[in-house]
Amino acid sequence: MAKPAKVLLNVPAIKADFPILQRKVRDRRLIYLDSAATSQKPKQVIDATSDYYSRYNANVHRAIYELGEEATREYEGAREKIAGFIRAKSPNQIVFTKSTTESLNVVAYGYGLKGKLQSGDEIVGTVMEHHSNHVPWHFVKDHKGAVLKYVDVNDDGTLRMEQYDELLTKRTKIVTVTLCSNVLGTINPVKDIVKRAHEVGAVCVVDAAQAAPHMSIDVQDLDADFLAFSGHKMLGPTGIGVLYGKPEALDATEPLLGGGEMIREVHLGRASWNDVPYRFEGGTPNIAGAIGLGVAVDYLTKLGMDAVRAHEMEVTQYALEKFARLDGVHTYGPKDVKKKAGVLAFTIDNAHPHDVASILDVEGICVRSGHHCAQPLMERFDLPATARASFYVYNDLEDVDALVAGIKRVQEVFA
Ligand SMILES: Cc1ncc(COP(=O)(O)O)c(C=O)c1O
Repeated sequence: MAKPAKVLLNVPAIKADFPILQRKVRDRRLIYLDSAATSQKPKQVIDATSDYYSRYNANVHRAIYELGEEATREYEGAREKIAGFIRAKSPNQIVFTKSTTESLNVVAYGYGLKGKLQSGDEIVGTVMEHHSNHVPWHFVKDHKGAVLKYVDVNDDGTLRMEQYDELLTKRTKIVTVTLCSNVLGTINPVKDIVKRAHEVGAVCVVDAAQAAPHMSIDVQDLDADFLAFSGHKMLGPTGIGVLYGKPEALDATEPLLGGGEMIREVHLGRASWNDVPYRFEGGTPNIAGAIGLGVAVDYLTKLGMDAVRAHEMEVTQYALEKFARLDGVHTYGPKDVKKKAGVLAFTIDNAHPHDVASILDVEGICVRSGHHCAQPLMERFDLPATARASFYVYNDLEDVDALVAGIKRVQEVFA
């Protein structure tokens, strides 16, 4: 087997930026292979959040004193950086939420449940969605009488695009799809999916939780109406997420949270709303989180998202080749790294995925096990659970070698 020519990022230098990667687990080097669940944070992000609390902690958009102005400048500066990162036309298209989950709920509630949808209108999702992109639409079905339809997955983990065409009708009002599966790693042809949705007059909601951290996104090129992602999976803090929307899509969305900040005027018994995006940011926001996410975006931008993607393709290719040579180990999702992100779900004959994760943990290796919040997908593949390794900018081929050695150890235990 030919070893990949080179790893494109300077991983030792990157690792040095992550304090947690300097620690040991059970006296072993920490090998973190669970970035699809949450990524680790570089010191630049940790310092930026701590700097906000230590030097200019104040509420945003309210105080007219220096600290408040600084906090507002940094918070709005983060919005601008995020707009640039996904090539949105304007920072006003960036809504801060707490997570992808909240972003998707804002759309399902405000555009679906409280918006223009009628009973009998159709929402097309896919079998490979994360629960966060299933359950909010169940609410729309249960409370509005919307009809849910799902595009199935081929055995190779790609979407059945011919079925997608069959599911679209003139009653389809919303298509919702993940850009990248958190289990199979499949990168879906979202530009094409959006185009076909628009042809029947539907809006398209894109879950970019597993894509925004790993590949460059151009929302104008995708032409998505809404796009959601989380800060904590892309080197940023927990508790901060993003909802991008086209102006007309956001205008047609009712706010989920009422309270301070999101209003224009309040009188007893009635109120009017502030402009987008503030209309969706009721209450004091996660200021430190937004600022930290802005710094995470700086960090990724400096690495270059094309380099990040190329690096992960190389690590994933190496892992796929190594796994293919392990008897009794099965991987799921596309085998072609052009169609796959750095997410590798696997099972080992005779070993439960939880046992796999526990034995790897003894070796200092963190992988996820379970249904990965994708039970419909697990049912599709008739699997109760899998183990899952996921790669990011601080992983290299040595980490893959350690994982493979750990899997051989699991096989010895269960032989
Ligand atoms: C594809 C996908 N969508 C949505 C989510 C939910 O993200 P969060 O828990 O940050 O809201 C995840 C988290 O794993 C995910 O992988």
